[in-house]
Amino acid sequence: MNSALRPLHSRPVQVSAVVVSLLAVCFALLASAEFAAGPRGGPHPPNLLAQSQAEADRKSAGCITCHVATDSATMHPTGTVRLGCGDCHGGKFDVHLPAGPAPGSPLYEETKSQAHARPSQVEFAGGEESMVRPYTRWLRENLDYVRFVNPGDLRVAPQTCGASGCHAGIVRRVQTSMMTHGGMLWGAALYNNGAFPLKDPHFGESYSAEGRPQELRTVPPPSPEDTRRKGVLPQLSPLPRWEVSQPGNVLRTFERGGRRRAETGNPTREEEPGRPDNKVAERGFGTLLRTDPVFLGLQKTRLLDPLLSLPGSNDHPGDYRHSG
Ligand code: HEC
Ligand code: HEC
Repeated sequence: MNSALRPLHSRPVQVSAVVVSLLAVCFALLASAEFAAGPRGGPHPPNLLAQSQAEADRKSAGCITCHVATDSATMHPTGTVRLGCGDCHGGKFDVHLPAGPAPGSPLYEETKSQAHARPSQVEFAGGEESMVRPYTRWLRENLDYVRFVNPGDLRVAPQTCGASGCHAGIVRRVQTSMMTHGGMLWGAALYNNGAFPLKDPHFGESYSAEGRPQELRTVPPPSPEDTRRKGVLPQLSPLPRWEVSQPGNVLRTFERGGRRRAETGNPTREEEPGRPDNKVAERGFGTLLRTDPVFLGLQKTRLLDPLLSLPGSNDHPGDYRHSG
């Protein structure tokens, strides 16, 4: 098993969507630009590290008419970077609160809703409280809103933390990190419970910027020898939908029904020849909801105990986690 535990990023990895998309090309370009950064790197987006204080202040001006007491305005207490709220959160930083209206008054609320990015789903309209059990609804939110509420979300991190001159390398690597895809956890659960026959991890969690599950691939593909000796995996796929998973593993012993458990070499005399009492049932893929409990369990754990792509369930005090 050890050989399978090495994270994918031990090798150059390119992220590509299941449906071949432009995104894959963008990531590939991003990955190569990362190493070609500097004078040879060609045109860059504005370099936030070189931004003037005046420019940074411009991107906070409207926000701080309401957000007056911020403990760390740039989130970099060392004071080494000059950033405005808008550099990370986006939003309309030129919308100012005119002096006067108190929080809660109609003009205050109106100004706020103009300055803030808006969610596409009504479920998120309640602000922070709506982050209770967001599950995969979070993946369907528009990127402006995701960025506004959490600039550290992995789908927007390339535009925020990974912006030119900042943490591009880390943002790139976290996408294929084991902390993000969790391939080892899924691999162990599926193989050890007999739900998937191969020992090397084949499944991992990853989403495109549009929030769709995507495959992770090592480019160029490793040789079987690389996989065997160094644990470099060729790819990780999204979990299949639990409805199409097929039972056929040890956990089936917990199923209801069947008065006696069958034993090898100890036939039940009353059974009709060729028609065992303990049969595998008329079960095809997903019929009668007879599906594989491990695939279902992993899909649920993905929601309840997420890795880095989804927010936590945030439904009990002291355990608050956002995505990213
Ligand atoms: C008119 C006042 C006002 C303006 C202008 C304003 N905010 Fe807010 N903001 C608030 C209040 C009040 C909250 C507390 C939650 C709520 O009431 O929605 C808040 C909450 C937030 C949150 C938490 C997320 C959420 O939805 O609860 C973020 C992030 C945020 N503001 C960032 C910004 C940024 C960045 C700007 C500038 C682009 C900005 N705000 C401009 C008043 C304002
Ligand atoms: C370096 C990027 C960066 C800058 C600059 C920045 N923020 Fe943030 N801000 C974040 C991140 C990341 C979070 C954490 C979001 C989370 O995990 O929920 C956050 C959290 C917040 C929250 C709490 C959100 C919530 O859901 O409770 C508010 C409010 C906020 N920022 C307002 C501001 C304001 C106002 C400014 C400008 C004075 C600002 N931020 C500047 C990155 C930044």
